[in-house]
Amino acid sequence: MKQQLENIRLQALSSLDAANSPAELEELRVKWLGKKGELTAVLKMMGKLSAEERPIMGQLANSVRAEIEEKLEGRKAAIGAAVLEAKLAAEAIDVTIPGDAVTLGHQHPMNMVLQEVKDIFVGLGYQVVDGPEVELADYNFTRLNIEEGHPSRDRSDTFYFSDDDSVLLRTQTSPMQIRFMENHKPPFCMLAPGRVFRKDEADATHSPMFHQIEGLVVDEHITMGDLKGALISMMRKIYGAESEMRFRPHHFPFTEPSCEMDMQCHKCHGTGEIDGQVCSTCHGEGWIELLGAGMVHPKVLESCGIDPEKYSGFAFGMGLERMAMGRMRINDLRLIFDNDVRFLNQF
Ligand code: DAH
Repeated sequence: MKQQLENIRLQALSSLDAANSPAELEELRVKWLGKKGELTAVLKMMGKLSAEERPIMGQLANSVRAEIEEKLEGRKAAIGAAVLEAKLAAEAIDVTIPGDAVTLGHQHPMNMVLQEVKDIFVGLGYQVVDGPEVELADYNFTRLNIEEGHPSRDRSDTFYFSDDDSVLLRTQTSPMQIRFMENHKPPFCMLAPGRVFRKDEADATHSPMFHQIEGLVVDEHITMGDLKGALISMMRKIYGAESEMRFRPHHFPFTEPSCEMDMQCHKCHGTGEIDGQVCSTCHGEGWIELLGAGMVHPKVLESCGIDPEKYSGFAFGMGLERMAMGRMRINDLRLIFDNDVRFLNQF
């Protein structure tokens, strides 16, 4: 019996050492210490022993049981710790791994330039106003002194909504002059940015939809000098004090006299060519037309109830895309509308 107990002790301890899961341990506990276990089986035979032997064997059996129990507890703790360890390792969150960066967008280059222009004019005391893109031909043409039959009224140039050509997508922001003068008495300085539409094929400098910024100043004694002063100071702020501008005589039905203002081409610096090739940005002109302007026609003032004998004014309308192209050194207008992030990220 002593040998039996010794065998149980050795086998139980080594099997417990080899176990490596809580389930295995439980199985071994039942096998060695359970009611139908090995140790119990040996103890059941105690009755057959002599009175001298019984206490000795009893003691031995108890010490074997105690040793197995102790081992069991030890293995339980060790396996529990290992299981916990593995679980923690599997669930670990490494707080030192850099997170996914959120990419922040920014203003579209056109909006940046628009904001700059607005800031400059607001600084000069201009009021910024908004108006409808779907406009009456009356405001877009007639009251701006643009006669019936004028080429800009042609159906091949203008998007009309009605058969009688009375409603259209505005072809310019100039109708805002009329809308503003209907509701305001001079003196005033107004700025009206917005979208305009023309049946133009898209190329490097044209698009069927583009943006204009209209300006209008009416007061007593306003002269062409005020017009040039306002426009030159604005351009110098945007393009730098060194930038070259020129005014050319022109004709607009709603201003008299009228002019256009050009900026020296930022691509070829006025030479009209690059490496012997015609400059694609200014088509060899050396200059890029930025705006039309002039002194408000007396007929236009009159049609809005403003006395042209007492008041005079100047007006201008500039192309925002062209301004942005010069400001941001963009060579093709279509890039502005493509919204390719690889392009936009550069600004
Ligand atoms: N509306 C004109 C255009 O689209 C530009 C323009 C010319 C606006 C003269 C003006 C102006 O206010 O006075 O071509």
